[in-house]
Amino acid sequence: MMLSSIVWAFLLMPNICILGSHSERSWNFEVISASMVSSDESKVNATIHVNRISFSESVVSANVYWNCGAEDDSTASFVVLHSRSGRENDYSNTPYQIPNQNLKTFVDNYYHDMFYLNVANCSNLPPYFDVPPVKMRYILNECSMTGDGFPYILPLGYYKFHLVLKTEATFTISFIVKLTSKSMG
Ligand SMILES: *[C@@H]1O[C@H](CO)[C@@H](O)[C@H](O)[C@H]1NC(C)=O
Ligand SMILES: *[C@@H]1O[C@H](CO)[C@@H](O)[C@H](O)[C@H]1NC(C)=O
Repeated sequence: MMLSSIVWAFLLMPNICILGSHSERSWNFEVISASMVSSDESKVNATIHVNRISFSESVVSANVYWNCGAEDDSTASFVVLHSRSGRENDYSNTPYQIPNQNLKTFVDNYYHDMFYLNVANCSNLPPYFDVPPVKMRYILNECSMTGDGFPYILPLGYYKFHLVLKTEATFTISFIVKLTSKSMG
């Protein structure tokens, strides 16, 4: 199961019929990198690793130390950027985003269905999150990323996914994914 498949399904809800299966899709999927950046490593810090295990499947493992409260003005946002070339200054916004909003609203609306259900079997994350979150170490162990659930028709090139959480510290989780033409490769 793809880590972000539900993300796409949700963002594309009105157009759900364009979601394609593995065999129908016109592109190959490669996770280029994953990173987590914290403005205060004593509050939140993390390591993340991606291993490519086959042509269209990668696994992601992560260790997140969360030692942070969450005030009422804490926020979260999710954005997807696209670049045909992969050059840093070529990235532009796509329609796929969740605007910056109250962290509790974000968690209530998106966490369980969009994220948790995808990582239930490969993590120690709880099915429902309280805000403020419990101070602890969260682990993802080889969660599969296959591109399943991505829209069938997407411009080729590079995609950056950013999840930005602003609490006592600002914490950004980013993935860069590359889609290449299946016919070329
Ligand atoms: C990461 O967070 C944990 C828990 O707060 C802390 O013990 C550890 O020192 C932190 N690591 C860094 C590099 O700050
Ligand atoms: C998790 O495991 C259960 C039982 O094996 C399975 O039914 C479910 O589809 C799995 N979920 C994911 C996201 O792989």
